[in-house]
This record gives sequence, C-alpha cells and structure tokens, in this order.
Amino acid sequence: MPSADQPTQMRPYEPAHGIAVRRVTAGAIKRRKGKTPFPLITAYDAPFAAYAEEAGIDVILVGDSLGNVVLGYDETTPVTMEQMLHHSRAVVRGTTRAHVIADMPFGSYQVSDEEALRNAIRFIKEAGATSVKLEGGVHEAARIAAITAAGIPVVGHIGVMPQTAGLGPGYKLRSNRAHLFTDARAVAEAGAYAIVLEVVDATIAAEITQELTIPTIGIGAGAACDAQVLVLHDLLGLYPHSPPFARRYAELGRAATDALRTYADDVRSGRFPQPS
Ligand code: KIV
Repeated sequence: MPSADQPTQMRPYEPAHGIAVRRVTAGAIKRRKGKTPFPLITAYDAPFAAYAEEAGIDVILVGDSLGNVVLGYDETTPVTMEQMLHHSRAVVRGTTRAHVIADMPFGSYQVSDEEALRNAIRFIKEAGATSVKLEGGVHEAARIAAITAAGIPVVGHIGVMPQTAGLGPGYKLRSNRAHLFTDARAVAEAGAYAIVLEVVDATIAAEITQELTIPTIGIGAGAACDAQVLVLHDLLGLYPHSPPFARRYAELGRAATDALRTYADDVRSGRFPQPS
C-alpha cells in the first residue's frame, strides 16, 4: 500500500530491464507540507544523483549552481539551456524513482510566457525532468502560471536569487518582511507546488512556512521550513570554502587530492602498476 508520500499510481510491475517505476510526483511532494522535514540535494551527474537516491533523498535539484560548482564560472548567469539539459539528462539517467527538478537558467524564461513555457517543455520532453524551478516573485508570477497551466509543475525561488543577485544587495540575508511575503504569496497563487527560500531571515521564513499551503524549501533560511536543500559540493566538502549556513558532512576535496597525490607518487616510484 503506498504511503501518502509515495506516488498515487504505480505500474503494477517493475519492467524486466530495471527501468523505473513511476517517479515521486509534485503532488506527493506537496502533500509533505507540515510533516517531517525532508531533504533535497543538488546533483549534476549520474553517479552523484545515484548516490543521493541510494541515500534515500528522493527529490533532486539540477541547480544552475552547475555554473559555479561544475563548470568553473563565477556566476550562474552564463549557464545555458543546452548545459542544463545535458546535466539534467545525466541526473535522470542516474536515478529511477527520484523527482528531478530542472533549474531554468537565466535568459530561458525572462523574455515571455511563451518562451518560458517552450523551455520548460524541453526539460520535460528532452531531459525527462519531473518539474522545473525558476527564480522570481511577483515579477515572474505570470511565467509560473503559464507553465503550470500547461501541466508542468513549477518550484518558485525567492530571497537571494543568484541569477540577479548582482543587481541588488548581493547574497546578503533577506529580511524585508513585506517584500518577501508579497513574493511568496504571488508564487503560491501562480500555482507553484513548492518554493525555495534562499538566505531569508529565519523568523520570516517560519512565518511564510506557516502561511503558505505549499512546502517551503530552505537554504540558509532556518529550521522551520518544510524542507532543506544544500548544494552537493558544499555538503561533501569538495571545495575549500562553503557558505556559513551549509554543513560539511565530508571532506571529499581533500580525500580526492590525497588519493591523486598517492597515485602520482606510486607511478613515479614504480609502486603502480605492480609487475604482476
Ligand atoms: O542552483 C541551485 O543550486 C539552487 C539552490 C541553491 C536552491 O537554486
């Protein structure tokens, strides 16, 4: 018997070739509102998406943080649709049951409702993503409404919005209560099934979580949100520095450097390969 958290419709059998039964749906995620806090993580390739799923994380965001943590850009703004499609496909291939949210990159939804919808459709049809996310409050509410009207579930994103952070107060904590509430309400009323609150004052995030009927997904927004998301590379310690709100659960960057150094030493000293 599927629990409330599981998809309501399952195929009656698992195909012999092992391809997925149905993925966790946006509706199932929405029904987690107000229940046990649930984790999301970003992923950008098949193996790490598979590790996340194996670890029991069933909502994966292919964030446009791709630009910073994988592609070597300083910003997310240069990230293109083709790059996001490429990495979203990899994450979908690496998972079977997880809900995969594809982040709409800067320039893919700002121009018009039509263009936003066309690009959202590409994520669903060409990459196999389960939903899309876009940044913006009141100003992007029409885009969210246009995409959801076509049957594509949308996650909103307010607070710090990295695609346009340079135009405003950068990555500083957002604490303008009236502004945040106006944006959060606009996103929810436009039909989003969840909303990311990035670097938002924890008290305000708690109040927004209390008011909205859709799950809030916090990143640097306190413990009262319905869900938490972290960037994979921050959590795994793949870079020397992580944002202050991120907890480093491993030091894989250092482990990788140590392993590579040992390999290089072994080759130079003749310890690898073994003559046998
Ligand atoms: O791009 C991303 O990884 C994100 C998360 C930080 C929410 O938008």
